[in-house]
Amino acid sequence: MRKPLLAGNWKMNTISQESVKLAIDLKNLVAEVNDRDILVCPPFTAISQVADTLRDSVVMVGGQDMFWEDKGAFTGEVSGGMLKSVGATYVIIGHSERRQFFGETDATVNKKLNAAHKHGLLPIVCVGETLAEREGNKTLQVIETQIKGSLNGLPKEQMGKTVVAYEPVWAIGTGKTASPEQAQEVHAFIRKLIVELFDQATADEVRILYGGSVTPDNIKILMSQADIDGGLVGGASLKADNFAKIVKY
Ligand code: PGA
Repeated sequence: MRKPLLAGNWKMNTISQESVKLAIDLKNLVAEVNDRDILVCPPFTAISQVADTLRDSVVMVGGQDMFWEDKGAFTGEVSGGMLKSVGATYVIIGHSERRQFFGETDATVNKKLNAAHKHGLLPIVCVGETLAEREGNKTLQVIETQIKGSLNGLPKEQMGKTVVAYEPVWAIGTGKTASPEQAQEVHAFIRKLIVELFDQATADEVRILYGGSVTPDNIKILMSQADIDGGLVGGASLKADNFAKIVKY
């Protein structure tokens, strides 16, 4: 049985004090929850403080990205070891905004994924099609390319610890959610690809999150689908009460 994972991606929001307040409010609202995993991914500048704030709570902390090298002359980058050292246990990799605005490809995602495992961080690897790709009936083809490229060469035991997030680009921040059936179709397809690339037992272990305009109103129906194991939530994770409702769907 896969334990649901509800993850908040704060993106480039919250200055230091705001992030601590959001973390405290959330911690209080979800204190009793124990049958699902809860994660928040603040901007790099707030991870340390948020992790300290959440130290004795059920809420875990992750990064929104990382670089694949351990250290060196890579101005502006943050390594997996750095994330770990301030209390992060997860890291989002290959978010569509990284792919769209910062030139990330399946090849760079693959390097980051390997580096995340090396540092003992649990990666959340994002895939998803654009509107033009969906309208051109290319969704499954695009997902297959992204999954195969991103997961290429990963050892089986690391795959079991990898989370995948299906985030249709047209649904991110637009208020347009994929229908539960549209999402389930792609989630089932991703799991089938993992069976082919690894094996059934590994595929049964991997959690596949849905992301793209998740709200307290649509999370329940999304979570009722067989292959949807959680949510990656942007906008609605910036208000503690909204995200708490999503967590307690
Ligand atoms: P959204 O973002 O919930 O604001 O659509 C989701 C994401 O990008 O992870």
